[in-house]
Amino acid sequence: MHRRPLIHAFAAAALAALMPPAHAADTGPIKIGLILPMTGQQASTGRQIDAAVKLWQAQNGNKAGGRNVEVILKDDASVPDNTRRLAQELVVNDKVAVLAGFGITPSAMATAPIATQSKTPMVVMAAATSAITEASPFIVRTSFTLPQAAVGLAEWAAKNKIKKVVTLVADYGPGFDAEKYFADRIVLNGGQVLDKLRTPLRAPDFAPVLQKVRDVNPDALFVFLPSGQGAAFMKQFAERGLDKSGIRLIATGDVTDDDQLADMGDVALGVVNSHHYSAAHDSPTNKKFVAAFQAANKFRPNFMAVGGYDGMRVIYNALNASKGATGEALLAAMKGQIFESPRGPVLIDGQTRDIVQDMYIRKVERVGGQLYNVEFDSIKAMKDPGKSK
Ligand code: DHB
Repeated sequence: MHRRPLIHAFAAAALAALMPPAHAADTGPIKIGLILPMTGQQASTGRQIDAAVKLWQAQNGNKAGGRNVEVILKDDASVPDNTRRLAQELVVNDKVAVLAGFGITPSAMATAPIATQSKTPMVVMAAATSAITEASPFIVRTSFTLPQAAVGLAEWAAKNKIKKVVTLVADYGPGFDAEKYFADRIVLNGGQVLDKLRTPLRAPDFAPVLQKVRDVNPDALFVFLPSGQGAAFMKQFAERGLDKSGIRLIATGDVTDDDQLADMGDVALGVVNSHHYSAAHDSPTNKKFVAAFQAANKFRPNFMAVGGYDGMRVIYNALNASKGATGEALLAAMKGQIFESPRGPVLIDGQTRDIVQDMYIRKVERVGGQLYNVEFDSIKAMKDPGKSK
């Protein structure tokens, strides 16, 4: 008489073990915690990425993997302590499935332990120090690395009669990478590094270092500064007459940033630089992207916007592949993705979780009355040279 209920109980337990747990979190919206500098010194990075994320959702809808996708935007003002606290709150209180954004390297580094501990995939859309992807196995990057940008430009310099150089970089992670990978490649090719100059990340004053450059008188000055500082640097470079000194200015594309390039004036004309994205990149995919971005915003997309747009694509693709599953399943579905970005073909390396992409050598030229970075050479499918140690 008592056997049947017992068998029913066993059957029910076996069935329950096979079923995915019906947590509210598995049926409600997928939340993406997007942490960006919307105010403060890096605010242009936040403005660009926020606009790109909105464009992605306007074009692709608010559903992926059968679930609604909700973006929660938080402003960290590029203060790493804020980034860490906001990430903690987003994971614990909002139960976000993805952390995304990260305007500067210290913000990404401060958040990496939270991604690891909570097993939350973390999509780095902006920050570009090589070592970031090694700070957590849950980090995937859709921006670029400074070694990617610096090595090709050093090769170009060596082939173009530039023997003696001075480097000038922002005094933190991406600057150290840019300085090292540019200088080492110059020396490898028989050139000389006469001086290595650095300016603070916050409120830099370019006057003293530019005076130094004038005194040392190299063939070329190589510059990396984070997005948002290029225009102020160019202004000082011209005001001090360095544009007429015979010292050639070369840079990573962060300095000839599309966000500010149109207003930089003639001092920027002819500056050879290297980066992964130009608003002038000549492809049908990019032309569509730029047209849609400019229709929705009053400004040109820069490389930050593309990092944000592709970051959303990686998240949507992964959610579709994982059928809305989160955590490690979602991370696994982010690895190995291949797609056509507005920048060109892109791979998310399955081993390093870093981006593999074409890097371009460009020259600032006037196109239709406006300054653009016009690509004239490229290195195909470049991995981060910082990972080959
Ligand atoms: C970083 C920030 C930038 O604005 C940039 O152009 C490159 C790198 C960074 O902090 O990693």
